[in-house]
Amino acid sequence: MANHILLWVLVALTCSIALSFEPSPMQDFCIADPTSTARVNGMVCKDPKMAQALDFSFSGLHITGNTSNILGSKVTPANVAQIPGLNTLGISLARIDYAPWGINAPHTHPRASEILTVLEGTLFVGFVTSNPENRLISMVLNKGDVFVFPMGLVHFQRNVGYGNAVAFAALSSQNPGVITIADAVFGSNLPIASEVLSKAFQVDKNIVESLQAKF
Ligand SMILES: *[C@@H]1O[C@H](CO)[C@@H](O)[C@H](O)[C@H]1NC(C)=O
Repeated sequence: MANHILLWVLVALTCSIALSFEPSPMQDFCIADPTSTARVNGMVCKDPKMAQALDFSFSGLHITGNTSNILGSKVTPANVAQIPGLNTLGISLARIDYAPWGINAPHTHPRASEILTVLEGTLFVGFVTSNPENRLISMVLNKGDVFVFPMGLVHFQRNVGYGNAVAFAALSSQNPGVITIADAVFGSNLPIASEVLSKAFQVDKNIVESLQAKF
């Protein structure tokens, strides 16, 4: 009897570990049905008999993103929002364009690790390990180089070359999510009380308020 209980505890533990990432599909595919109002973990499947090649396809990653913005970068996603056939499959893709000296600002993906490859240009890239070390792990990448950003860690890229840069990133979620640190901390809706941010960042409330005004 005691052995049985132990076995079930082990099974339960193993399952909960496996489920900390996106669960494996239980059918060939589950094309997202954006018209369904049902709320599930992922999206509702449309009738598989109605599956078409276009459900698994996206066009446009050859198009240069418009980097005329304050950061000098543009992300073009290809995730389940653009490709309904990605639903339940645990992968997605993005193209990132960078103007000279443009940055992809520090951010995290709450649901995905990322593997990025440089197609054009030179990028300085890095991520920061979790507390208490907060160690910056960074390097310069050239065309053809690949770098990994582990799940959940804050990371960034900066174009340090003289021309435009282009990278493609693959992510281990159909819907990786993005938390841009500056927007989340200083641009939340409603704002986080400046008393909180003033203590957290060890700066005067005026500095916090001027940062909040920018986001
Ligand atoms: C790029 O974005 C800027 C700022 O939003 C806009 O003024 C400009 O027309 C855009 N350029 C193209 C080619 O779409």
